[in-house]
Amino acid sequence: MAQPSVRPISDEMAQDLLRAAHAAVLLAHAPYSGVKVGAALLSIDGTVHTGCNVENASLGLTICAERTAVVKAVSSGQRGFSAIAIATSLEDALMPCGACRQFLFEFSPDLMVVTQGSKGPWLRAQLSDLLPKAFGPANLA
Ligand code: THU
Repeated sequence: MAQPSVRPISDEMAQDLLRAAHAAVLLAHAPYSGVKVGAALLSIDGTVHTGCNVENASLGLTICAERTAVVKAVSSGQRGFSAIAIATSLEDALMPCGACRQFLFEFSPDLMVVTQGSKGPWLRAQLSDLLPKAFGPANLA
């Protein structure tokens, strides 16, 4: 079940989370695309769960950094999240892919997203703006 709304995070917290995401970029397994991505997911209890993209020779099996982080967090007992930071080896910041937006929405429809490339400024977005009129747990209640 999705958790209740959460407070927006401070710029300082966003930058801390981005630092963790940049560290996770270094762990990416991306021999096919060469695009390394790291994510750091902040739980409501304050814990941070990181993830990286993990590609596969059977290309469609690739899992994105954001979903790696969610799976790690949920399988550690977390269910509610306030923010995710995404970092990439690409110069420009990237926004989460559609599959990851849906995966994140399941647990935290009001999630804050912060994202940064290897150069340039970090950007902030709300998951509710990235995935408007979403299908989610409420549709199956
Ligand atoms: N990727 C992510 O990890 N997160 C995204 O939101 C977009 C794409 C990864 C998947 C693949 O390994 C590489 O970036 C190129 O698509």
